[in-house]
Amino acid sequence: MTTSSAIRPYRPEDREALDDICIRTAHNGGDSRPVYEDPGIFPATFAAPYVFLEPELAFVLDDGRGTAVGYILGTAGTPAFVEAFRTKWLPLVADRYPRPDGEPRTPDEGIVRLLHDPERMIVPEVAAYPAHLHIDLLPQWQGRGHGRALMRTFLQALGDRGVPAVHLCMSTANTPARAFYDRMGFHQIDVPDPGPVAYLGRTTGELDRL
Ligand SMILES: CC(C)(COP(=O)(O)OP(=O)(O)OC[C@H]1O[C@@H](n2cnc3c(N)ncnc32)[C@H](O)[C@@H]1OP(=O)(O)O)[C@@H](O)C(=O)NCCC(=O)NCCS
Repeated sequence: MTTSSAIRPYRPEDREALDDICIRTAHNGGDSRPVYEDPGIFPATFAAPYVFLEPELAFVLDDGRGTAVGYILGTAGTPAFVEAFRTKWLPLVADRYPRPDGEPRTPDEGIVRLLHDPERMIVPEVAAYPAHLHIDLLPQWQGRGHGRALMRTFLQALGDRGVPAVHLCMSTANTPARAFYDRMGFHQIDVPDPGPVAYLGRTTGELDRL
């Protein structure tokens, strides 16, 4: 029997695979394990809160055998998400990842800082793009059109909910991802002092041009 990959909604049994995909792609698009002592901080910050708070906006690429090998996830409304992140999500993970005192001394502490500062996601310049997203595929599933298919699915779901536009925040060092987002019709949004990240945005319409 042949099996073929397909995009489907996220389900709770995907959680371990979701964390694994995040960890293997979190360091500028590559594997975070050689760089971080406890790379579980990445899914705790950038993947798990989304499937906990807005599972209806999470989609996975299934390898055809039931295993998730890529995902797209996000929120329809960043301000409400930030509040829920602080009040509902952070209490669940703060024991494992306590807030470090002072300036971050290690790469891990730098990400733990982000976990404890969800308000960093409120950026006035992107207010007209209320949704935001994260997309990651395991290396062997990249470059085969699945990213485009996941993006189409996510933008369609946002459009169906009446959300007009979406943004994302990416590391500027991740130049392959930037090329992908350019192809997906995203444009840069100027933000003062963005640091080592760029903000990109797009409306949820015009899917025929994807
Ligand atoms: C970035 C990512 C989601 C793109 O998904 P993908 O499945 O590899 O991309 P697709 O095969 O669907 O490509 C779609 C379009 O983007 C272009 N593209 C994708 N990756 C590219 C790259 N590295 N360089 C240039 N163009 C690229 C493709 O050429 C294609 O364009 P075209 O068909 O119109 O010519 C995926 O590669 C990935 O998960 N990377 C690692 C994690 C990551 O960096 N995530 C983003 C964090 S901000």
